[in-house]
Parts: sequence; structure tokens; C-alpha cells
Amino acid sequence: MEKREKRQKQKETFKKVLRYIKKYWFYLILSILLAVITVVLTLYIPILIGDAVDEIVGAGHVDFAAIFVILKRMAVVILATAAAQWVMNLCNNKMTYGVVQDIRNEAFQKIESLPISYLDAHSHGDMVSRIIADVDQFADGLLMGFTQFFTGVMTIVGTLLFMLSVNAGITLVVVGITPLSFVVAGFIAKRTFSMFQLQSETRGEQTSLVDEMVGNQKIVQAFGHEKEALERFDEINGRLEKASLRAIFYSSTTNPSTRFINSLVYAGVGVTGALFAIQGRLSVGQLTCFLNYANQYTKPFNEISGVVTELQNALACAARIFELIEEEPEKPDAKDAVVLNEVDGSVAMQHVYFSYLPEQKLIEDFNLKVLPGQRVAIVGPTGCGKTTMINLLMRFYDTDSGEIDVSGHPITEITRDSLRASYGMVLQETWLKHATIRENIAMGKPEATKEEIIEAAKASHAHGFIKRLPEGYDTILGEDGGSLSQGQKQLLCIARVMLCLPPMLILDEATSSIDTRTELKIQNAFAKMMEGRTSFIVAHRLSTIQEADVILVMKDGKIIEKGNHEELLAAGGFYATLYQSQFAV
Ligand SMILES: Nc1ncnc2c1ncn2[C@@H]1O[C@H](COP(=O)(O)OP(=O)(O)O)[C@@H](O)[C@H]1O
Ligand SMILES: [Mg+2]
Repeated sequence: MEKREKRQKQKETFKKVLRYIKKYWFYLILSILLAVITVVLTLYIPILIGDAVDEIVGAGHVDFAAIFVILKRMAVVILATAAAQWVMNLCNNKMTYGVVQDIRNEAFQKIESLPISYLDAHSHGDMVSRIIADVDQFADGLLMGFTQFFTGVMTIVGTLLFMLSVNAGITLVVVGITPLSFVVAGFIAKRTFSMFQLQSETRGEQTSLVDEMVGNQKIVQAFGHEKEALERFDEINGRLEKASLRAIFYSSTTNPSTRFINSLVYAGVGVTGALFAIQGRLSVGQLTCFLNYANQYTKPFNEISGVVTELQNALACAARIFELIEEEPEKPDAKDAVVLNEVDGSVAMQHVYFSYLPEQKLIEDFNLKVLPGQRVAIVGPTGCGKTTMINLLMRFYDTDSGEIDVSGHPITEITRDSLRASYGMVLQETWLKHATIRENIAMGKPEATKEEIIEAAKASHAHGFIKRLPEGYDTILGEDGGSLSQGQKQLLCIARVMLCLPPMLILDEATSSIDTRTELKIQNAFAKMMEGRTSFIVAHRLSTIQEADVILVMKDGKIIEKGNHEELLAAGGFYATLYQSQFAV
């Protein structure tokens, strides 16, 4: 049952692959044609050799003129074969890399259109490996399939036909002995496969250990965990050695044993052929031709068995990519969705319910009315749903029920792009691209002038450290900010928002990695920026939110207190306790 399902899945994947190949039908047909030509030409050469031998046999009987003609013909055939093979390979490569490019493009586009919930719930490493490693493996398999599978099958069929046309008896000998080769190869392959599987599993284990250790070396050292890590590594390394040796031992017997069988075939043809030749039923030239065929015949069998595993592997990889490509994309904007141009800055949340997992209730009956230009601070213990609320405002997630309005429009009736563009967002996690500092700051406003960029950097107090970099604003940042400190990265993200100045602001622990002194300075910049802009500020340090118009105190997805700093202190509730604990000396 399980096996049948697997087959079924392989078949479906194969069909999908065919759909991608269809676009390149011209190359496919050309490639198959060229494969046929190559095979026929290759099979013709032994016949020519046989003919030549027949012109040589016997002392003083050599017909040089005839041999010369054959030689010339042979040269032409060999050249033609080489040319056909070359063009065929070009076609195959063109097809494979075309398909690979199409698939990668589609997968990448899919990632851009996936809902945030998918990205949150799946390992990023896994997605990367699907788009990079799996597609590569798939390409290898596909290319091998194109180049070796067709020619292999055709060589087998062609050789059989050519042999039958010369002598049926010897052909029977060849066909009779070959199955032995499969039995032996299959037996060894089964053994070897499980060994290789064990080897690659162990290697995977080792990789993840190294990854874990390198990534967290500081923590490993801080907790004095080096010895345990080394022991674990040694143990895995030992197992890997054993598994590798065994895998290599078994697999290294494949070649000698198949060669042995091939030699058996060769000897069988030699002996029967010699007997036929003595009886005069076969010329020496024809025997030579047969010996060549016997050699040629067994080779594709070995190749094909390799190709089949490779193809199965490729299909498995393709299935993983298709899984990603076929993932449900984010629900598109409603057809009549409005583009938010004039944002007055009013936000209202009415009876909003939301949870990431149906069985884990989070936000329940959340109500909030924010007037244009109001500063809303959100505080509460970790995990109480502050970021979740921001996710809902930005429509990274849709509410389960209830409504959120921005500027009087329900956000489900606004295009996502225009909704998100009306917020400037700075988060605790920073995102910088591999580009210059200037480009990173100007991300939301690529047409910004140099002066504007410097202005924004000054406002966010990033100008100081940027100036001290050897290349200043033209410094190229590495992946994710490279060697900048977390705080510096955050300053750059703040500068980015300062440059765009969208009508509303969201700061989710935006200053969490910045030292208190710089934070105080940025506070001023933020204060200026927030003037007349509706802002949502999530912060741990209560000092940064005292000036807010409304402070929401959240707990378990609900608002438990609401008011400004003085009111909340006077109320003597959760906020007052929190405040006193932070400022108690
Ligand atoms: N993508 C997610 N999938 C499932 N649960 C999540 C997800 N993101 C956050 N949560 C859970 O929702 C709760 C609220 O998280 P969050 O809003 O990030 O808290 P915080 O107030 O610290 O910002 C937490 O219990 C968290 O574990
Ligand atoms: Mg948070």
C-alpha cells in the first residue's frame, strides 16, 4: 500500500516535471533525434572494424585499397558521432538549466507571496535548502537522465538488433549471460544503499552538531561545555568512520564483480564465435564485431541502474520543491480594495479575536480607538501578545473575527501594499540587505538625495558612527549588517523610517539594543517624528513611554489597564507595580 502510494506520488511528480519540460519541446525532440543518430553511428563502427579485419585476414591477403576506404568511412562516422553528441549535450544542458531556472523563479516568487504565517511556522534553512540544494540535485538527475537514459536504452535495443542481423546464435549467448550481471549488481546495490544511507544520516548528524557548536560557540564556552561537545563529536565521528568504511567496502565490490560478469559475456562470445568461425559460419571480421558489441552491450545496463537511482533521487527532490511551489499563497487583495492615499491616522479595533493556533486562545474581544496623531504605548510581560497586535495592524495575519479600521476603512478592504506603506516600522530584529549603507537607508525611498539621507541619519544618531567607517555612507554591509553592532543596525533601521516618514509609526522594541544614552537622544528624534503621527510603541523600558497619550497594559492577550502615565500610577494597578519595580533603587 505504502509502496503504491510512493509510486503514485513519483508518477505525479514526474508529470509535473514533464509540464516544465514541455516548454523546451524543440530541444527535447532534437536531443532524442541526436541520441538515435549517435547510437546508430556508434553501433556502425564495430561493423566497419569487422569489415576491415576481413580485408586483412591471412598473410599476403591484405587489401590496402579496401581498408583505406573503410578507414575514411570510419573517420567520417566518428567525427559525425562526436558532433551529434556535442549538440545533444548542448540541448540537454539548455533544457535542464531552463527547467531549473523556471522552477527556482517560481519557488522564489512563491516565497514572496506566502502568508507570513507560513514563513513563521517553517524552518528557513529548510526553505533555502529546497530552493538551492534540492533544485541542484534535481538538475543533476535530470541532466543524467537526459544524457544517459535515452542513449543507454537505445544502445541496448540497437545492439540487440544489430547483433541479431549478423548472427542469432551468439546473440542468444549474450542475452543469456547478461541477467547474471543484474542479479549480482542488484544484490550489491541493496547492501550498499543501506550503508550509504547510514553514512549520510551520520554525516547529517555531524553537520548539525558542528553548526550548533560554531553558531553558539560563545555560549558553549560560557557554560564550559567544550568537553561534552568534543566527546559528542568524537562519538559521531567514530560512527561515521565505521559507516563510511563499510559503505565503501561494499560499493567497491560493485565494479570488479560487474566487470567479471562482463568478461564472462566476452569469453562466452569469444568461444561460441570461434566455434562458429571454424565451421565457416562466421567470418573473423564478424567475430571481432561481435566482441565489440558484447563489450558495448553490458555497459549501458550498469549506467542505467545508476541513472535510475539518480532519477528517483531527483524526483524526490522535485517533490520537495513542488511542495513549496504549490503552497497556498496569501489571499489576494479584494478586487475593489481601495488604495489608501490620504491617511488621517485614526485606528479602531472592534471585538477583535485572534489566535495563531485554534486550541490556544490569545487575543479575545480586543477593543481600541486611536485618534489621529495619538501616541499609543503598549506594555506587558513577554508573550502577552504585543507583537501579535502589531502583526494584526500590519495585516501580516488576519483577525479570526472582529474588525480593524484605518482611516475609516476596514483594513480587509484596503490593498495590503498601501496599508503597509502607511506605517513606518522599526522592530527589535533588524533587517539589512547586502548593499551600501546609503542604499540600506534609502530602501523605502530610493530617489532620496544624499542630503536627505544624511539628514535622516543625523536624526537617528547614526551619522556619527557611519562617518567613522572607512567608506562612510558607501560602506558595503555584509549579510545582515555584517560586523555592525546590534544597536548600530537598529539605528540604521530607524534612519530608514526617518527618511520615509510615513503617516503612522510602529516601534516594536525598537530601541531595545541601544544603550540608554543613545536611546535618550533618539527619543528626542522619535518625539519629533511622532508629532502629528499616530504611533504604536512597544517598549520594555517604561521611561520611553511615559509621554504616550494612551498606555495599554496587556496581559494574556487582553487590555487590563488603559490610561496615561499619571492615571495609571494613580490607579495603583499592574502598571504602577511594574513602574515601581523598574525605578526602585
Ligand atoms: N507564529 C506564531 N505561531 C504560533 N504562536 C505564536 C506565533 N508568534 C507568537 N506566538 C505566541 O503568541 C503569544 C504572543 O506572542 P507575542 O505577541 O510575540 O508576544 P510579545 O508580547 O512578547 O510580543 C506567545 O505565547 C507566543 O508564543
Ligand atoms: Mg514582541
